[in-house]
Amino acid sequence: MLPPFFVAKLMPTTCVVGILWGDEGKGKVIDFLAADADYVVRFGGGHNAGHTLILSSGKCVLHLVPSGIVHRHVVNVIGNGVVVDPIHLVNEIQRLRDRGLTVDPGRNLLVSERAHVILEAHRIQDQWAEQARGKGRIGTTGRGIGPAYADRCSRIGLRMGDLLRKDLLKAGLLRLCAEKNAMFTAIGLKALDANLLFDLLTTAGEQLRPAICDAGGVLRAAHQAGKRVLLEGAQGCLLDVEHGTYPYVTSSHASTGGAFSGTGLPPHAMRVIGIAKAYATRVGEGPFPSELTNDIGDRLRIAGNEFGSTTGRPRRCGWFDAVAVRYSGELSGARELTVTNLDVLRGFDPLQVVTGYRLADGTMATTFPAFDLESVQPVFQTLPGFHEDLREIRKFDQLPLAARRYIEFLEQQTRMAVTTISVGPERDQVILR
Ligand code: IMP
Repeated sequence: MLPPFFVAKLMPTTCVVGILWGDEGKGKVIDFLAADADYVVRFGGGHNAGHTLILSSGKCVLHLVPSGIVHRHVVNVIGNGVVVDPIHLVNEIQRLRDRGLTVDPGRNLLVSERAHVILEAHRIQDQWAEQARGKGRIGTTGRGIGPAYADRCSRIGLRMGDLLRKDLLKAGLLRLCAEKNAMFTAIGLKALDANLLFDLLTTAGEQLRPAICDAGGVLRAAHQAGKRVLLEGAQGCLLDVEHGTYPYVTSSHASTGGAFSGTGLPPHAMRVIGIAKAYATRVGEGPFPSELTNDIGDRLRIAGNEFGSTTGRPRRCGWFDAVAVRYSGELSGARELTVTNLDVLRGFDPLQVVTGYRLADGTMATTFPAFDLESVQPVFQTLPGFHEDLREIRKFDQLPLAARRYIEFLEQQTRMAVTTISVGPERDQVILR
């Protein structure tokens, strides 16, 4: 049985997660929900993310700053689970101010003192490792995400709070440089200069000082006071380091589990909204069962403008994969699905949806495979397409019959209620059910 439909309204804590491999259009959905939120919180990833908002002044891409920044009343929090390049953050704040947005560290932007720091060295290490992997490369964004999380686990990482404590920062840098330089010099990378890093980090730290705080404590107090907290997932469930298509994943917990560890909020009742496109996309390497490597895939890429907002890379495109979406829905606890880019499917007739995976031994997969996903044979259901322009439609029953049937089929297959449908990039191009 499908859960009942809700009108998109915030519960005290709502978490928005990408259901596949990122780029599902989360920025627009969060921007829309943030109008009703007191806090908007990033809980994982770093500036590998690119959340695109369409403002009256044009397109705006956010990488680290949460998408609530366009609403003046919202406090935006970069949680402890995020890896922060402080120099990038200072530049991003400036870029947003140049666009006329108010970014006031300490008032509408907070950064967890526990969030780990990405250094230039992590970027170099990330790019070096990708090159060294050759054909087996992951296709990372090259922003140093993996090495920064690795240093966190190795317990040599620096935290944002260190930037405000000169003695701690110096000692931390000496420790980090000693450990890293042994490896860096052995593989031909430039050794880190602790003094230079110290200067760069203390300068950035001073600029961010008003924002750096015990963000987890702030959020727990807000939660107890009944404030409305919106958790903004980055990437997608299938890029989760543990539950995703390992090793072709990012290095953080991109599914709902990361929302607790990455913010310090306790796991009380939370409404989880999954976001999926009406078709599927992926950037970087890794298995993608519903991928279209033919002209239909090329048409989808053009129709949906499927080029990465962080790296500009062309996204791989494919049909909606109900097996993968159902898995991510179960994993993330999302009972509601927002389907984005339905308008893009105009003129694709017939439509196809993956409803099962046939394994190499001829049997059907009963769970989402942890191994050999590249060798599954997708089983498709074919549905009629539609040819009408959906961008001005605001009511579900005004959609063409084929579009309604398509959405209802996705609900049946994913066992999630499609409560919101996006039919264009603008804020108001939305159908609520
Ligand atoms: P990393 O996060 O830069 O280490 O990249 C690991 C994988 O995650 C690569 O396949 C990237 O393309 C992918 N990835 C990371 N961030 C995003 C995102 O925001 N959207 C889509 N894919 C992403």
